[in-house]
Amino acid sequence: MPVKTRREGTTAHVTLDVPPVNAIGRETRQGLIDALDWVEAEPGLERVILAGAGRAFAAGADAREFDGPALAPHLPEVVARIEACHVPWIAAVHGAALGGGCELALACRYRIATPDASIGLPEVTLGVVPGAGGTQRLPRLVGLKPALEMIATGKPVSGETALALRLVDELAEEPVFAAEEVNHELLSTMVAVGDLPGPAGDDEALAAAREAARRRMRGQIAPLRAIDLIEMSITEPLAEAQAVEREIFLKLRTGAQAKALRHIFFAERAARAPDWLRDTVPAEISRAVVVGGGTMGAGIAYAFLNAGIFVDLIETDAEGVARAQGNVDKIIAASLKRGLIDEAAAAKRRAALSVTQDYAIAREADMAIEAAFESMAVKQEVFGRLEAEMRPDTLLATNTSYLDVNEIAAVLGDPSRLVGLHFFAPAHIMKLLEIVRGDATSDAALATGFALARRLRKLPVLAGVCDGFIGNRILARYREAADTVMLEGSTPWEIDAAMVAFGYAMGPYEAQDLSGLDIAFANRRRQDATRDPNRRYIPIADRMVNEGRLGKKVGVGWYRYPGGGGKVMDPLIEDLVREEARFAKVDRRAFEPGEIQERLVLAMINEATRILEEGIAQTAADIDVVTVAGYGFPRWRGGLMHYADTLGPKAVLKRVEAFAQEDPVAWKPSGLLRRLVDAGKTFADP
Ligand code: COA
Repeated sequence: MPVKTRREGTTAHVTLDVPPVNAIGRETRQGLIDALDWVEAEPGLERVILAGAGRAFAAGADAREFDGPALAPHLPEVVARIEACHVPWIAAVHGAALGGGCELALACRYRIATPDASIGLPEVTLGVVPGAGGTQRLPRLVGLKPALEMIATGKPVSGETALALRLVDELAEEPVFAAEEVNHELLSTMVAVGDLPGPAGDDEALAAAREAARRRMRGQIAPLRAIDLIEMSITEPLAEAQAVEREIFLKLRTGAQAKALRHIFFAERAARAPDWLRDTVPAEISRAVVVGGGTMGAGIAYAFLNAGIFVDLIETDAEGVARAQGNVDKIIAASLKRGLIDEAAAAKRRAALSVTQDYAIAREADMAIEAAFESMAVKQEVFGRLEAEMRPDTLLATNTSYLDVNEIAAVLGDPSRLVGLHFFAPAHIMKLLEIVRGDATSDAALATGFALARRLRKLPVLAGVCDGFIGNRILARYREAADTVMLEGSTPWEIDAAMVAFGYAMGPYEAQDLSGLDIAFANRRRQDATRDPNRRYIPIADRMVNEGRLGKKVGVGWYRYPGGGGKVMDPLIEDLVREEARFAKVDRRAFEPGEIQERLVLAMINEATRILEEGIAQTAADIDVVTVAGYGFPRWRGGLMHYADTLGPKAVLKRVEAFAQEDPVAWKPSGLLRRLVDAGKTFADP
């Protein structure tokens, strides 16, 4: 039974019970309607306490239902009946009260929450607007500005903040007990939120919210629609505005953006725990060794410390030890400054860290991760030394971005212990974690990797061994396609602008300036020996590096950064590109933004289908998670392969074949792409 009811004296308890997080589907709505019928028929009730079983109050509408037609009874009906019920309802909130869960709470006469509850209307993050009165009741209760902030960004607030906003009336560690204690007189004087007057108008706040939505959630429809609806709450009666809200909600729900955002929401969750690993028990990790305390190693060390894991950071010499300590200290200080941790938490992290040159420290560790220099010899030496010290049952991990995990594992007596854990910089912030399975990697090592990712609050994606794994391999094709367009007639700024218009936060050249051109350069040198000689090689980025244009860190890359500040276009680059085009005997021509986007995105899609075909990625959805969480592909397009499905494999193949006329090597369609088209399947089909 999704909704449980019981009576204790004059109190009725209505409890949502849909594990794991009480998502509200049709049966739950029906259960609430039945509960309302029961409450209305019960004589002598003083209060109804609405709560959630398990770890949440309610995670909102069951998003899995959104692909089909809206099923009665609908949530607005439930909300209206709770609000109009002759017995006052009290929401006893713990955990998440999101979306429809928050709207149920808003329908109640009184709200009590735990201090760490998470309350909000995150619908825009799923491409819709609240659909059961949220855009009308929240501004009535908390005022226009906080409502705009919460609904248009979708960011929930804690119980404590909710109290400060008067979104809840009371905080309690045990909200159900507290609800039983609420004074009856007080309860009977509480006004229904829907009966409160609309909020005061504030044109400035509305304009600022629209500006912020256009900037921060560029390309997305729902935030702007939500702001329009909130604006209606100032002047329009609840019933009329709610009818408009419902109409917009239903329309957005079946739209492309909502589908894409739902897809990525579920793809992220599916990636976290592959089914076939469910029965493999992961090892407990309480102490970890991190080898290498550069930017990456320090970030990884901090991510571990954040998760309550003791860290021993190993460096090669005294200077390295001091630098590594300094790097972690800097991250701790920055987290303190940003208010992410307090002084006590900072002290705890400092106390849980040791930095040393002595590998003997690894004897105590449950795992080790290497984040040393990207050199096979260096990595093999590190693992030889780790294996000599560590217990045989412990996990060994490499953070290599490109090197062959099998070759690294070859030095180990037991290569099944080694897994790739490819973090993204800054490692304590970026969510993506590629978990790389070598030929010998055991399921136990993989399961520990996935469990660790969950503990570090990362988004893990399983990848096979190849040059660049999933993400960097796709990135290489993206950059190659961009360089080709540049050589053939475009400029870095035109290409960047086209990709920003597509939905990226920044284009490929600005991104390179930010990460530094030297890393990719070193990587290209490593690939020189094995590069297909028939593949066109565009040396412009090499020239940049040879001329010292390494990116923002030196003040000049594809752009110039005078005084270390914002980017400025550099006409010198255009001369350089024209010169290279002359050497390559290319007749340059103009590219429209649409064609730039098409070439760059299709190049990635074609490579991604090869990655799938080779089993480097398990599913198209995994590639979506990688491209969104690690490489800035617009979330509202659902990830690279979801986007490919919106184009359709047939259309993708047709265009790839057309481009292959120009360059049959770079644009060779993958076998999988052809097979999908022949079978009439999509990328999402298993
Ligand atoms: N609809 C359908 N399923 C949902 C859901 C929803 N609104 N919210 C969560 N779930 C599912 C998840 O897919 C996951 O399923 P799985 O175990 O099969 O993978 C399960 O519930 C647990 O969710 P998860 O996100 O893994 O748990 P968590 O404790 O990390 O986070 C929430 C819980 C509620 C904070 C998070 O799930 C969330 O933000 N949900 C969406 C809330 C929302 O946007 N609601 C508005 C809907 S319009």
